Amino acid sequence: MNHKLTTLISGLLVVLLSAFAGAATLDEEIRERLNPAGSVCVFGDDCAAGMAVAGSAGPRDAETIYNTYCMVCHATGVSEAPIFGNAEQWEPRLAKGMDVLYTNSINGINVMPPRGTCVDCSDDEMRAAVDFMRDALQ
Ligand code: HEC
Repeated sequence: MNHKLTTLISGLLVVLLSAFAGAATLDEEIRERLNPAGSVCVFGDDCAAGMAVAGSAGPRDAETIYNTYCMVCHATGVSEAPIFGNAEQWEPRLAKGMDVLYTNSINGINVMPPRGTCVDCSDDEMRAAVDFMRDALQ
């Protein structure tokens, strides 16, 4: 018997024996940790229905991000945040150019926190949220 096969079989035996023994061995612990990875849903599977709601796959839509993170300040103008839909307040902001607004929304500016507190927002999601606020002016 070649060496690799022997190692493999003895490895399997250890796993089986420890499972039969019912002991909380390292093997079991490792298997337990691996389990969730084995049961992960892939987008498009039946089990993945509702994934978009859970927000675990793909970018969230801009409106959802705005409502969840930005609205709290931008709906009423907390700390002089430019108010959603208020063209007069947004005009001097827009004059800086969208790239500056994207960057400032990602890095934060004065009281405006980095990513508007959406710490897990991607740069693309942030840009979409800024676009969403701009589009509300038209
Ligand atoms: C805690 C309150 C708060 C939250 C939450 C918040 N903002 Fe702001 N935001 C501000 C304030 C205050 C300003 C004005 C900052 C300044 O110019 O002094 C601002 C300014 C901005 C500007 C203009 C930046 C510029 O350069 O003029 C953009 C764009 C913006 N916010 C986008 C967002 C987006 C997108 C979100 C959500 C993902 C968000 N904000 C969440 C408070 C907030």
